Amino acid sequence: MSEIIEQQSLIIVCGSGGVGKTTISAAIALALARQGKKSIVVTIDPAKRLAQAMGLAHLSARPQKVTASVLEGMRGELWAMMLDAKTTFDELIVRYAPSSEIREKILKNRIYQHVSSSLAGSQEYMAIEEVCELARGEKFDVIVLDTPPTHHALDFLGAPQRMIRFLDEGVIKWFFKPYFALGRVGFSLLAGASGKVLRVLERLTGFEFLQDLSEFFFHFREMYDGFKERAQWVYDRLRSRDSVFVVVTAPERQSMRELKLFHRALKEGGMPFGGIIVNRVHLLGGGEELVEALNEGVPAELESAFEGVLEFWREYQGMVRYDARCLEELEDLTGRSLPIRSVPHFEEEISDLHGLDKMGGILFTEST
Ligand SMILES: Nc1ncnc2c1ncn2[C@@H]1O[C@H](COP(=O)(O)OP(=O)(O)O)[C@@H](O)[C@H]1O
Ligand SMILES: [Mg+2]
Repeated sequence: MSEIIEQQSLIIVCGSGGVGKTTISAAIALALARQGKKSIVVTIDPAKRLAQAMGLAHLSARPQKVTASVLEGMRGELWAMMLDAKTTFDELIVRYAPSSEIREKILKNRIYQHVSSSLAGSQEYMAIEEVCELARGEKFDVIVLDTPPTHHALDFLGAPQRMIRFLDEGVIKWFFKPYFALGRVGFSLLAGASGKVLRVLERLTGFEFLQDLSEFFFHFREMYDGFKERAQWVYDRLRSRDSVFVVVTAPERQSMRELKLFHRALKEGGMPFGGIIVNRVHLLGGGEELVEALNEGVPAELESAFEGVLEFWREYQGMVRYDARCLEELEDLTGRSLPIRSVPHFEEEISDLHGLDKMGGILFTEST
């Protein structure tokens, strides 16, 4: 897997929420920087301490170079950037608005403000959008994209198509567009024609809401084509030869079931699948001898003190066995055709660059 990863310029790290995507993305970017590359991790929700460790304490939608004493003397460079869907959406408007007047109108429009931060899937779409733009700039050797915490990893893959569909045949087109093409006049026609619903809406929300709505769709219409072309470009970029998807999963059945669906979706969508990272795997980390000794007999006066240790150990062994079974199932599930790498469950959370280094070391060493 490390070989596959090392050759790509866009690495997209997917998986369901909470499996360790953000941490693993940062660890991959750091490991690649150690190899001499100029790498950037584009992240969305780093845990607070990790964000601080990477100099991302203040939300910024611009790439920032990570400087820390542990990185001194490193051959490459590590950069980091925090994604903000709304900022990216705004930048798209700036790019595609036909005039500065329309640009201002849209950005100030309350419907736009709502849509740009809560349109279903817009966060996923904007993440990919941002990254494709970064890739185009050729400022970095490699970009590692940490994807948004979707309920379902699949949501992310479909984002460009959904955006295209939304623009093509969404509510806008079949309901509003013909009317709004006529501007305010059309709007009053619509209000007159399909009256009831709108009158109720109007009563509930006030006329201003409807005016905002009208204005939003009226101006947005002028940008359809630009937006659509862009979404298509993003869609193609994800399938290009120098992109690769890596899926992170937990050694846990629900997460693995999702992974199977995800694998299929990538295959059907013609997207390159680089491999699977199973994170937080419980491994036996020594201590067996101690347990053996304890099992053989503990001085009576110490028995109660050691009972807790033993119990913990047995429980832990249970987890080790469970995880090992999951890994086997995963290999069966994927027909042993994909690289799988496990990352151990560390005792402490990974909240600084040392932790990332440790993780990166495991990801990029030879044996599993
Ligand atoms: N292998 C691991 N061992 C121990 N803690 C981990 C491991 N991987 C991730 N964590 C911790 O789990 C928490 C969630 O990880 P995060 O990367 O933010 O998940 P996600 O981005 O998938 O939601 C973080 O506190 C992180 O430090
Ligand atoms: Mg995350």
